[in-house]
Amino acid sequence: MANETARNIGPVIVLGPPGAGKGTQAKRIVDRYGIPQISTGDLLRDNVGRGTKLGLEAKAIMARGELVPDELIYGIVSSRLREADCQRGFVLDGFPRTAAQARWLDATLEKEIFDKSQSDKSEKCPPIVIQLLVDYNQLLLRLTGRRSCPTCGRLYNIHFQPPLVDELCDVDGSKLLTRSDDREDVISERLAAYESQTKPVADYYRAQRRLVVVNADRTMDEIAAQIFGVIDRHGQDAGGGAAKLESAS
Ligand code: AP5
Repeated sequence: MANETARNIGPVIVLGPPGAGKGTQAKRIVDRYGIPQISTGDLLRDNVGRGTKLGLEAKAIMARGELVPDELIYGIVSSRLREADCQRGFVLDGFPRTAAQARWLDATLEKEIFDKSQSDKSEKCPPIVIQLLVDYNQLLLRLTGRRSCPTCGRLYNIHFQPPLVDELCDVDGSKLLTRSDDREDVISERLAAYESQTKPVADYYRAQRRLVVVNADRTMDEIAAQIFGVIDRHGQDAGGGAAKLESAS
């Protein structure tokens, strides 16, 4: 694991349906490679919590389990990508979520992020795109069982990763929260939005030979180990890595 927190990692995109474990695996990548997690869901929930203009526009849409319009998302992603901690790379979790968002991201990375970077463009890695696949019934258990700590952000699951004391965080003892969109009626809307609007994103990256499909019906450690292998091989292949990625799945 030498140099994992010093070398350029580039963009890592984690795709998958609601509850697939995108946030869980994004945090593992953050811990290993020292690059930031950019979760559009977290950014939106933060705006909702602070009552910003964006938050007020997004709140009702998210409560229904629908996707927030692309134009609202572009603003928050683009300003986050320009922050200094994204220089070596970043993990995108929950973005892109429509084919239009994927095209926008490609254009933004190419024109604005790479061109303005002080590093030589050839040293940057092309995006690594990981799609997590999970059985439908498992997704429901992951979503209905999810709890999170409002203080430290740690994730739990009452079925798979329960806290030591019911409903309390192991780290700081805070009362755990259930996300408001983890109700069954909203979950079915979120899964429907994934089927109709987000699945084409995987097709987009498959056509570019960038997609790596990962069986996420396994333990968190097994999934993380496979993802780390993909990222590490990608680093070794940087420069001509995109075409070689598919054989890693
Ligand atoms: P967002 O916050 O992105 O939610 P999501 O995509 O529905 O994904 P989740 O956060 O629910 O699941 P996850 O895959 O991260 O799973 P997690 O790791 O938490 O989006 C919310 C809303 O915001 C959207 O509905 C939309 O309205 C809006 N939005 C966001 N981005 C947008 C965009 N780009 N464009 C438009 N609108 C946007 O894990 C889930 C549970 O499973 C946890 O309890 C965890 O502990 C457990 N778990 C994880 N892995 C495993 C495992 N291997 N085994 C057992 N349990 C596991």
